Amino acid sequence: MKISNKMKNTTAIAHSNIALIKYWGKSNQKLNIPAVDSISITLKELSTKTTVRISENLEKDTLILNNRPAVEKQRLRISRFLDLIRHEKKFDFPLEIKSENNFPTAAGLASSASGFAALALAASKAAGLNLSSFELSELARKGSGSAARSIYGGFVHMHRGDEKSGMDAVADQLYDENYWDLRLLILVTSIKEKEIGSTEGMNLSAKTSPYYKNWIQSSIGDISEMKNAIVKKDFEKLGELSEFSCLKMHALAMSSNPGIIYWNENTIKIINKVRALRKSGLGVFFTIDAGPQVKVLCLPQDISKVKDEFKNIKGIKQTIHSAIGPSVYILGENT
Ligand code: DP6
Repeated sequence: MKISNKMKNTTAIAHSNIALIKYWGKSNQKLNIPAVDSISITLKELSTKTTVRISENLEKDTLILNNRPAVEKQRLRISRFLDLIRHEKKFDFPLEIKSENNFPTAAGLASSASGFAALALAASKAAGLNLSSFELSELARKGSGSAARSIYGGFVHMHRGDEKSGMDAVADQLYDENYWDLRLLILVTSIKEKEIGSTEGMNLSAKTSPYYKNWIQSSIGDISEMKNAIVKKDFEKLGELSEFSCLKMHALAMSSNPGIIYWNENTIKIINKVRALRKSGLGVFFTIDAGPQVKVLCLPQDISKVKDEFKNIKGIKQTIHSAIGPSVYILGENT
């Protein structure tokens, strides 16, 4: 590949997502192939903006994350991902990456999902590749499994695939963001960096949990039931299945050796409150990723009531309200 002196900046925006049917476990760690399918919704309010510039003048890839040079571990993870694009396009110039989240990274709000989705698009475009959504999803997956879903907006199904190469372990869109208006209230209960990341946690579960095999088998039924609930716009069913998949995933983490507990006391307080509210007739359900933050699902007509209910709860550090968001896109290319 020829690099001109005046290189372009290529900027992409991707939105984070939350899995309703969770991904936990890999069938191939090197290629990052998930052991189970997953289903997510993309989040309008949580996004990453990433600018990529190919540079002959740099010695190595640089990564500026939220206006600060990234730590070496993060830089190396990004650099290994960029190698995939360099290999494909047969060039060996370093890249300059600037990435910004519009949400607190330390709060564990799936920054790797929007981060790798934005990077996959911006870096491939900067390198002159015009990848299809399918190809972008496969590329993003190699950065982070959940990132494969953030290529698409709306309701998204990630397939574990059948091919050894991982070429069909990609996501596709079930419906776009205008299909069904659902709301999510993200309740941040801690801003501390979590001790065990998703990658490490799921690899430990695969190796040590006595429930791992059943998790894989039972997820097949969860996926088809969730697809059905989405087709029928059956919110009750969607909510019930989301809680079930979430608790099953956390039970799997807890049954690993040593057991992993991602929750704190406020996480449990909120879970109980969601269930009490539901008993009183309000349509609310929860889901939780590998961290202590609780995401409360509801329909748009109930969001102000739900916000009120969680307004004065001690232990909630931040509240973010999100609707369903769009696919990844290029914001601009300039010299
Ligand atoms: C609990 O996508 O962060 O959020 O592929 O190792 O980068 P890697 O894992 P990651 O795991 C996400 C786990 C989860 C559930 C989900 O998003 O499906």
